[in-house]
This record gives sequence, structure tokens and C-alpha cells, in this order.
Amino acid sequence: MYAELINKGELIAREAGNLLLQGFRSPEMKISYKSRTNLVTNMDRFSEKLILRRIEEVFPDHSIIAEEGSEKEVRGDLVWYVDPLDATNNYAHGIAYFCVSLGLVSRKEKKVMAGIVFDPWHNELFSAYRGGGAFLNGNAIHVSATADIGISIIATGIPYEKDDPGRNNIRQLTGVAPRVQDIRRMGSAALDLCSVACGRFDGYWEPELQPWDMAAGSLIVEEAGGEVSGYNGESFDVCIPRIIATNGLIHNHLVYLIES
Ligand code: IPD
Ligand code: CA
Ligand code: CA
Repeated sequence: MYAELINKGELIAREAGNLLLQGFRSPEMKISYKSRTNLVTNMDRFSEKLILRRIEEVFPDHSIIAEEGSEKEVRGDLVWYVDPLDATNNYAHGIAYFCVSLGLVSRKEKKVMAGIVFDPWHNELFSAYRGGGAFLNGNAIHVSATADIGISIIATGIPYEKDDPGRNNIRQLTGVAPRVQDIRRMGSAALDLCSVACGRFDGYWEPELQPWDMAAGSLIVEEAGGEVSGYNGESFDVCIPRIIATNGLIHNHLVYLIES
């Protein structure tokens, strides 16, 4: 069931990603501010509208929760968490690192069942369904084999609430940065997770995320052989806003550095 569903979901992600490409670095793209640090563009909204329409057409019995406020509730177990443009800040500044992220969650099982992340600039489509492995443009992907955190590339994000020391991730960054090979802050939680899944990064952590940022990417990491957890190493829950994702080999060490 999920294999066929993924094929249909991939078409939706590609269509939305190609729409984003048309607006990228174009005068048609208009920015507005949710707050000083948190931007939204008209393209976020156009992409969300398109994705909603397509999910309603293709999966009429699925519910939808999307970042820019669209919701559709139907009776049933499956819900799509939709990030119509992950990395709006990059997109609005003309930085070519952004994506569409679609994660399908079973409410009964409290688990992500399928995930699709499409980066239209690089034409990279990551996908996975539970038990089916993880793929990049149709080829199987695997996490890295780095067992030493000292030679690991670790990604993270800085939340929008930058002036709140209890939430801004600076303390954790100070603990991790000196002990790893290097840190990356690329600006897209969904692509950061996919980069762990395909072995470009060895690990990643971030606080203050939403289900639409993490759902698809978290499953893609798991299906690529990696490990995903909360900050204490507890089972990952897509509705709890903190994630640690690694190749598995450095997981305990990264949990330790983040918590200490
Ligand atoms: C953001 C990006 C960013 C992360 C933020 C997210 P948005 O999503 O994923 O990398 O650090 O926490 O909110 O707002 O661009 O969809
Ligand atoms: Ca996002
Ligand atoms: Ca977004």
C-alpha cells in the first residue's frame, strides 16, 4: 500500500517543488514577516494551496495539517504533515537550499509511515516508507559509517526565538562544536535529516521544531539505517519538538554532549 502511495506523493512534492523554483530569485516572490526572525513568502502559500488540492484529489480519506494554516480533518487514521517550503529564510534570501516536505503519520500507531522530501534546485527527491528502505532519486541510501564523533560533521539549527537563552540552542552548540570535526547550519531541518540519511552528515540535532519539519526526514533517517530520538535518547515522537538523528554509531555520544 505504502509503495504505491509514495509514488503518488512524489508527484505532488515534485509539482510543488517546481512551483517554488519558478518563484525563486524572481520579482514575483513577496516576503512578509511573522516576526523579525520568521519570514513567510507568497510562494509558501501558493505551494501549500497546490499540495492541499492534490492531496485532497489523490487521498480523499486522509487528513492534512500544513504549516501555513491549512487543515482538513476527516475520520480515519492517516494524516499528512505538510511543509510547503522548508527553509523559507534561505528561499527569501536567494540561497539555493530549500525543499518541500510531506510526512504521513498514523495516529493509531503514533508513527511516521511514509515521507517525501524534494529539493527542486538540486533535483533530489528523498523518500521512504516504513519497512521499505530509504531512497534518493530511486537509489537506496545509507547513513555514514563514522564511529568517532571527533571526525563527524554535525548539523543543527538556531530556532526563531534567538533572544531566549532557554530556547536558542546556544548552550548545546557550545558543548558540541569543540568536540566534532565541524558544524553545519544549512537552514532546512528536512534536508538536514535527509543529509544524515545519505551519509553527508553524521548527525543532527535541533530544538523547537514542528511535526511538518521532522516527520518525513525522521523516517528517511530510520529507513537508511540511522537512529532518531529525543534529547534524552528516548523514543522519537513527532509531536515533541526536539530531535537527535545520527548514523547510530555516534548517537549516545551526541546525546551525552547535548544533555551535558
Ligand atoms: C525552518 C527550517 C530551519 C529550522 C527552523 C524551521 P521553515 O523551517 O527548517 O532549518 O532551523 O527551526 O522552522 O520555517 O523555513 O519552514
Ligand atoms: Ca520547516
Ligand atoms: Ca515552511
